[in-house]
Amino acid sequence: MDKKLIGILTGGGDCPGLNAAIRAIVRKGMNSYGYEFVGIKNGWAGLLEKNIIPLEADSVSGILIRGGTIIGTSRTNPTKSPELMNKAINNFKELGLYALIAIGGDDTLGVASKLFDTGLNVVGVPKTIDNDLSGTDQTFGFDTAVSIATEAIDRLHSTAESHDRVMVVEVMGREAGWIATYAGIAGGADIILIPEEPFDINEICALLEKRRQRDRHFSIIVVAEGAMPKDKDTFFTKDDKVDDFGHVTLGGISEYVAKKIKEMMGWDTRTTILGHVQRGGTPTAYDRILATRYGIKAIDLVYEEKFGNIAALRCNRIDAVPLREAVSKNKKVDKEIYEIAKIFFG
Ligand code: F6P
Repeated sequence: MDKKLIGILTGGGDCPGLNAAIRAIVRKGMNSYGYEFVGIKNGWAGLLEKNIIPLEADSVSGILIRGGTIIGTSRTNPTKSPELMNKAINNFKELGLYALIAIGGDDTLGVASKLFDTGLNVVGVPKTIDNDLSGTDQTFGFDTAVSIATEAIDRLHSTAESHDRVMVVEVMGREAGWIATYAGIAGGADIILIPEEPFDINEICALLEKRRQRDRHFSIIVVAEGAMPKDKDTFFTKDDKVDDFGHVTLGGISEYVAKKIKEMMGWDTRTTILGHVQRGGTPTAYDRILATRYGIKAIDLVYEEKFGNIAALRCNRIDAVPLREAVSKNKKVDKEIYEIAKIFFG
């Protein structure tokens, strides 16, 4: 009897842990279930182009600690038109796939959910450094990004203090400020600005002034790229270009905050934009384990024919959660954790 063929793809922004998840899926799938695997290259683009590579024991050897993804990624969106969607469905069948495991955030898993609705065998694995996917307590990639951002904040403290400066650190987080909140708390930030809580620059300056009165003449502000002042209702963006999913490239909020503080208070300010450093390089031990657990669960779900689900973390157990639930809404920063962060403002 022919072995069942399973496709794996990684979509959206890359993140540390993708290779650990691929390795886990292939190792368990080959050894326990006798499946064969192909990597669909560069996210959904590979399905539209029938661009695949074989994934064997050798291909996944030594990749656990590597950042990025060995099968490439893209932000291609087949749900943009009915023609592309039909092509994706036909190619799935023509490639002889029994099932597809899509590793991604809300955009990639949104496509996976729609393909599942057409009757295809699809399972999801949640990843994104932004940690903004619903249905799961945490996505892999987030812990690594928080560690990198925390180290950067730690390093900025000494130079900020030496120069009596306000350092504004911009981290990723388009719709949700998870990285800013966690790295800000871990790094002892004086202010944390996130998309969920539009800010008033006067209040920020008042808090920093209070700090100076306590003889602390430097400050660290952590700002998520999607944060906004109360009197503005659009993101700070680099240009007008939008990707296949309608996202603009964010950037510029840190410059705005630094400039305003300089203008209003006269203090010396500097900005640091961490950018893709947060997404690059080796995953933390935590992310390697989480990605491995997700990968194992995903291939188990295929074996159990529990399609239309993602492997999700719930109270430290890995469970099946419907794809539809995972992509239904963006997961915002918990109010409770942001309240903890605020205790240390100023
Ligand atoms: O993966 C999500 C994310 O990290 C967002 O926080 C950020 O806005 C985006 O990726 C930027 O990714 P790219 O430069 O690859 O488009």
